[in-house]
Amino acid sequence: MNKPLFISLEGVDGAGKTTHIHFIEDYFRTKGLPFYMTREPGGTDLGEKLRLLLLHEEMDALTETMLMFAARCEHIQTIIKPKLDQGITVVSDRFTDATYAYQAGGKGVDARSIDVLKSLVQKDLDPDLTFLFDVPVEISIERLKDTRTMDKFEREEPIFHQSIRNAYLDLAQSFPQRFHVLNGTHAIEAIQDEIKLILDRRLG
Ligand code: TMP
Repeated sequence: MNKPLFISLEGVDGAGKTTHIHFIEDYFRTKGLPFYMTREPGGTDLGEKLRLLLLHEEMDALTETMLMFAARCEHIQTIIKPKLDQGITVVSDRFTDATYAYQAGGKGVDARSIDVLKSLVQKDLDPDLTFLFDVPVEISIERLKDTRTMDKFEREEPIFHQSIRNAYLDLAQSFPQRFHVLNGTHAIEAIQDEIKLILDRRLG
């Protein structure tokens, strides 16, 4: 049996991440490998309730950071760890890199506070592989305008989105063995070919 992977998907809002989730789902289904798709904030009953608050209520940035980690703690304890222990690959639409990008990069929360919460909640759990969907913010903001009603993060000023993109790219540079940056301006098929190649390589 292959060792299950813990995969996270990241990117600024409007980077096109959602388009590729179904492709990744189909990839694992076709290979006959057990997998579980989930998301943050959310992924559990409690986490989904916290998600509603987090995406729609204004709050202090540190409060927001701690609520993200409260939702994450529940997610890890009741979903992520048990699934990985059962040999099931977990694919999470966002994880802790999003907290570094949005709460530290976007809102100025001290990254050291996030380090503390991370070590408390995650211990040694980290994604094996992170796909970062990267696009210039002029494009991501334009894409957001064409979609559903925007949440509080999506409604932020362009400078906020730019800080998040920069923070994500910095993280990708710091952890090159874990991150795969995908150019979200490329054709959907080209991005999916790249995802397939990376997954094939990881799964041997
Ligand atoms: P999404 O599911 O559409 O990506 O929306 C989730 C939003 O929550 C997105 O704007 C990013 C934000 N977010 C944070 O600010 N910090 C976090 O730690 C996570 C997981 C998400």
